[in-house]
Amino acid sequence: MITAKQIKKSFGQVHVLKGMDFSVDKGEIVIVVGASGAGKTTLLQILGTLDRPDSGQLFFDGTDISSLNEKELAAFRNKNIGFVFQFHHLLPEFTALENVCIPAFIAKKSKAEASAKAKGLLEMLGLGHRLEHKPSELSGGEKQRVAIARALVNDPMVVFADEPSGNLDSVNRQELHEIIVDLREKLDQTFVIVTHDLEMEHMADRTVVMTDGMIEAN
Ligand SMILES: Nc1ncnc2c1ncn2[C@@H]1O[C@H](COP(=O)(O)OP(=O)(O)OP(=O)(O)O)[C@@H](O)[C@H]1O
Ligand SMILES: [Mg+2]
Repeated sequence: MITAKQIKKSFGQVHVLKGMDFSVDKGEIVIVVGASGAGKTTLLQILGTLDRPDSGQLFFDGTDISSLNEKELAAFRNKNIGFVFQFHHLLPEFTALENVCIPAFIAKKSKAEASAKAKGLLEMLGLGHRLEHKPSELSGGEKQRVAIARALVNDPMVVFADEPSGNLDSVNRQELHEIIVDLREKLDQTFVIVTHDLEMEHMADRTVVMTDGMIEAN
């Protein structure tokens, strides 16, 4: 479903990605691990089309990402890619429900459609009683679940998560793992997750180890 070929990326003299090949199948949970500075976030930003590689190719279901202009790329990303970061990045002024609706509004869904979808996801994630809470009125684990609902609202092809449990305690971390496995079962949702959390490897189909800008093992 996602294929990256010979991806290279440097920042000045620092060659972070040195010709990486990477692929993900539909419904797979792929974990990316590696030392700090190995290039995990850089890879995820490129796979998530937030950053462009210096060279190499990226295909989503046969669509060559480099063939899209900025506007087409933004629309493609909004529709097909969900993101979850270490820090939730929810908008503080908006309620949980509104935060989840925003990507759907950007995709030009009606208010009724967006709200119904967002509400359904939040209920599925155990937050049906927190719809009107603002981020400051939610726990860390709850905020991260809202961020997951937001990532899912447009039924993306894939969710990229960069250390999603990095800021959570062990109970919330465990819960997040269960949610991800559950989402794969219920929605056949595909995930690529960067983590330092070795427990996450147990739930993955595949672990990719990044060393020195290359993939070490699959
Ligand atoms: N915008 C940038 N400008 C210059 N150097 C950068 C930039 N982004 C990343 N780097 C460098 O690229 C290397 C890889 O960074 P990256 O964030 O991908 O690592 P990481 O594997 O995600 O590490 P961590 O586990 O600490 O999050 C690092 O040496 C970093 O300093
Ligand atoms: Mg990182």
